[in-house]
Amino acid sequence: MKSIYIENIMKENNIGKEFSLYGWVYRRRIMKDKIFIVLRDSSGIIQCLIEKNKVNGKTWEDSKKIQIEGSIKIDGIIEKDERAPGGFELKAKEVKIIDLGDVFPLKGNETPLAIMDWRHLWIRSRRFNAISKVRDSLTRGLIEYFTKNKWYWVFPPILTPTTCEETTTLFEVKYFDEKAFLSQSAQLYLESLIFSLEKVFSLTPSFRAEKSRTKRHLHEYWQLECEAAWMDDNEIMKVAEGMVKEGIKKVIEERKKEVEFLGRDIKKLRKFIEDDFIRMKYDEAIDELQKSKVKIQWGDDLSSDEEKKLTLMHDMPIFVMNYPRKVKAFYAKELGDKKRVINFDLLAPEGFGEIISGSEREDNYEILKEKMKEFKIPLQTYSWYLDLRKYGSVPHSGFGLGVDRTLRWLLKLEHVRDTLPFPRLRGTQINM
Ligand code: 4AD
Ligand code: MG
Repeated sequence: MKSIYIENIMKENNIGKEFSLYGWVYRRRIMKDKIFIVLRDSSGIIQCLIEKNKVNGKTWEDSKKIQIEGSIKIDGIIEKDERAPGGFELKAKEVKIIDLGDVFPLKGNETPLAIMDWRHLWIRSRRFNAISKVRDSLTRGLIEYFTKNKWYWVFPPILTPTTCEETTTLFEVKYFDEKAFLSQSAQLYLESLIFSLEKVFSLTPSFRAEKSRTKRHLHEYWQLECEAAWMDDNEIMKVAEGMVKEGIKKVIEERKKEVEFLGRDIKKLRKFIEDDFIRMKYDEAIDELQKSKVKIQWGDDLSSDEEKKLTLMHDMPIFVMNYPRKVKAFYAKELGDKKRVINFDLLAPEGFGEIISGSEREDNYEILKEKMKEFKIPLQTYSWYLDLRKYGSVPHSGFGLGVDRTLRWLLKLEHVRDTLPFPRLRGTQINM
């Protein structure tokens, strides 16, 4: 079993020591009497120098044949070298070929569309490696916020009989002789679980058959959702802010190198955890947009263009609260004015827009039933959900965060697909 990783050996106190490294050929330059191999493993890259007169004949011949991405073991001594990436170099004593490898089809200059067909190989890139490590830290940070604060991690189903969000974005599947749908959101299940556990969260794949192809829509994405009994919108927004900050904190603690490699200013990330998130009423958001000449009226939902406009005017995440009841789902609790709901969207700054939607939920049986009728929700399928308002109903709130979108913002990635190894996107086949 491999026990030594490149990043761990690139240290001053290892100079002069001998190591055996296992990895893949990242770059290679063959000269008359020298071969430079940049070796990569999951942890990083290191330059290895093979000198003709310092290695045996087999090592020299093998090293000339090895392809980019071929797998090898190199034994050698670590030395300092200012010209090498990372400042260290491994002087090879022996190179053992594990697999020479065919000519690697990716050259590093492929278009994003071409990359979609080579995803299984592209994920070896340093860029994807770095994004994945940030994603790992971010997700753990977000989850730790909940576990530290004594929320219970629960496991709702993905095959569901009902819709949670819009019926137009459902993926239908055959469930033996019945029809079922892939889950859009775990919310309804989390709402039922609070009557047992009070504060619950889940991390699940969520499915949306979105018609539009945008830089922020996936058909399968990861949603972190939570639901708490006895909490109001103010309290649940504090949870949302605390959770996002914990996620960013973890990224800063663990992934400074990767964040910088990806070209994101770590100082910016620090600011997101130091300052308070902005809170703004929907009405104020409309005012701000109208003042900057955006054609929007009270009652309209914020489109992604409008979110972009609004969030470019601020440098912290913005909670936009109390949207018109018509543009939000049936379960959101209404404000006294009967025009707005007790909800919020958290919009990421710098033009990124919505990463969280949440609300206080309607907990009154009669009001919810009427609203469901008005929103043309089939009461029959939702009788179990209505039951929750019949047997010891309590005020409660919750939200859902898109992990992929959050990562896209934190790393300022061009497209949300860049956050996943095998993104599901309209217009591309499911071929792997
Ligand atoms: O705003 P949405 O649709 O809200 C819900 O599903 C609620 N039931 C959540 C809850 O209260 N428990 O989705 C929540 C978040 C969005 O803010 C966004 O970050 C992400 O999920 N999201 C998507 N991410 C990528 N691709 C898509 N097609 C997404 N649709 C939503
Ligand atoms: Mg939303």
